Amino acid sequence: MNKRLEAIAEFVRDGRGLIDVGTDHGYLPVRLAQRAYTGFLCASDINPGPLDAARRTAREALLEDRIRFLLCDGLDDCPKERIDTIVIAGMGGDLICRILDRAEWCLDGAYSLILQPMTKAEVLRYWLVNNGFRLEEERLVRDGGRIYQIVFARFSANMPLSDAELFAGAFENIRDEALCREWLDALIRRFEKELQGLLSSAHPEEGREAICRGVLAGLIEMKGKLT
Ligand SMILES: C[S@@+](CC[C@H](N)C(=O)[O-])C[C@H]1O[C@@H](n2cnc3c(N)ncnc32)[C@H](O)[C@@H]1O
Repeated sequence: MNKRLEAIAEFVRDGRGLIDVGTDHGYLPVRLAQRAYTGFLCASDINPGPLDAARRTAREALLEDRIRFLLCDGLDDCPKERIDTIVIAGMGGDLICRILDRAEWCLDGAYSLILQPMTKAEVLRYWLVNNGFRLEEERLVRDGGRIYQIVFARFSANMPLSDAELFAGAFENIRDEALCREWLDALIRRFEKELQGLLSSAHPEEGREAICRGVLAGLIEMKGKLT
């Protein structure tokens, strides 16, 4: 299993049960079963092909009976009374929001979310904090030359996030300062480039320059707090 999925597996605490939405090859639930996770395990996907692949992975590991396989869109048919952890990984942040939006039952302190957006992480963080979730922990992981973000969220008291934190993440415990610095540098470069483009554009998007400047200032401040 790759480092990204290993890092997600490390977030999982033993508990009542877990659903891996969009499981594809089923590597995560199989790994959890191998790591002696004792709760109910459900692997779901919207497409039959990936779900068959997940079944195959489980069969090869002699774990097919240990995992429930579910063909459905997002959390639509999730056996919610059997789980306490929802994993949605390897999808765009906007798709993750759409899946969560359709499952109002997960707005409940009984559930923890482990999310790994491939894109639009800022859209996902915005959705989470505006729907009563607290970002309890964030982690960056480098895998195959790319940095991935993993967000662990729980329905709880409101948590304000700055614009810069929407993009970079809300780090209370930084495990790897060097990786965090590299991550912030990449975001700073991205916003500097966007700002340059706006300044040289004949028709800049209204209000965007102020947003870029605000995010940039916040990112630079976050970087300054690293030791
Ligand atoms: C790129 S793979 C990610 C696989 C795995 N979660 C990972 O992180 O490596 C995305 C998977 O999500 C599935 N998927 C896409 N939209 C979905 C939805 N609305 N509900 C459930 N699964 C979905 C796709 O069929 C595909 O198998």
